[in-house]
Amino acid sequence: MLSEKSRPVIEATLPVIAGRIDEITPKFYRRLFAAHPELMDGMFSRANQQNGTQQRALAGSIAAFATHLLAHPGTLPEAVLARIANKHTSLGIPESGYPIVYEHLFAAIAEDLGEAVTPEVADAWTEVYWLMADALIKLEKGLYAQQANGEMWTKWRVTAKEAAGAGSVTFRLTPADSTPVTRATPGQYVSVRVRLADGLRQARQYSLSDSVDSLTERVFTTKLDEGGEVSPFLHGSVNVGDVVELSNPYGDIELDDSDAPIVLATAGIGCTPSASILQSLAQQVSGRRVLVLHAEQRAENWALEGQMRSAVDRLPNAELQLWLEEAATGVDAETGFMDLNGIELPAGAKVYLCGPLPFMRSIRSQAISAGIPATDIHYEVFGPDVWLAA
Ligand code: HEM
Repeated sequence: MLSEKSRPVIEATLPVIAGRIDEITPKFYRRLFAAHPELMDGMFSRANQQNGTQQRALAGSIAAFATHLLAHPGTLPEAVLARIANKHTSLGIPESGYPIVYEHLFAAIAEDLGEAVTPEVADAWTEVYWLMADALIKLEKGLYAQQANGEMWTKWRVTAKEAAGAGSVTFRLTPADSTPVTRATPGQYVSVRVRLADGLRQARQYSLSDSVDSLTERVFTTKLDEGGEVSPFLHGSVNVGDVVELSNPYGDIELDDSDAPIVLATAGIGCTPSASILQSLAQQVSGRRVLVLHAEQRAENWALEGQMRSAVDRLPNAELQLWLEEAATGVDAETGFMDLNGIELPAGAKVYLCGPLPFMRSIRSQAISAGIPATDIHYEVFGPDVWLAA
């Protein structure tokens, strides 16, 4: 909990700090990578640094955390912390990184705000930083401890590389050594780390799309991001027989084991976590009411159509509704963007969203208008969660 001494200082300076985030963060990352270039090798995403999304996510989340401490004293923003801790552990972030980030972040704040950063202001923000860091470190220790092994990265061999809708590929992998494997849960992801042509290692998170509870197979599906770094490498240069490094499985989306109805609302490649949730419901022949809502630009893009349709067919109380931006003959779908008007959301439903941010914003507010409490709406963002920081 924030001390009485720091509270008025944070209240007074939060607008200034929040207003300078776009100036502070580039200075912070410049300092961080000048002192620790090794952090770009396999940990931070070079692409996210170039497009600035990660920069806004990290510093923005500290401002959002401070806002939460002021508005809800004595509580922590659990969902935000869980999301970050899962992302961190999937990248093997060590506790020893926190003092390093602190040093360069606070040097950047001092550089940007100059004399406005009095010792009193620095002390109050130091308190906020370590409240957040300690909460993350605690969660991260717990997540690391749940794994079947103490390794950050283990080697997996590609056993199949299958086309999965236009522009997407499903990779199937088997352990390439005898490290014990952690059983994943539906909706989780792994980080995949590869060495790019210029020698730099880069990691990305991909939702497990199938066989989540297997101890001998990992399956993920990735859409080609033409301007990206890792998906073009995976699609173009990683083939059957090749070895890549995978993290243990992480991710805070959790399918509860109640009888509550489930609504899975996804767009594009966002269907991957819901495909694994559906798969596991189908394996249990769950009697839960399941409403699968999926949107695509074009019918042929739908990455896991066969798997998802077959799971829906095997579930006694599941229904599927598709939206296509471009109508296709012979495909039963609404035309245009997903719209919950006219869709009866089952009472008490747990809603899981995955897709581009504008899609999730729109569906989340439509679901709330339809009477679903915000706490029953879960989402997975691919890439840095700038929504968190907003
Ligand atoms: C990702 C916050 C400390 C490395 C993130 C994200 C946030 C965040 C909000 C984005 C999560 C998402 O994808 O939605 C913080 C905060 C920290 C902290 C508030 C301290 C209190 C650290 C430390 C390291 C680190 C100590 C390593 C030295 C990373 C990396 C990513 C990340 C590598 C993913 C970056 C990417 O995709 O480019 N962090 N973080 N963070 N963080 Fe942290």
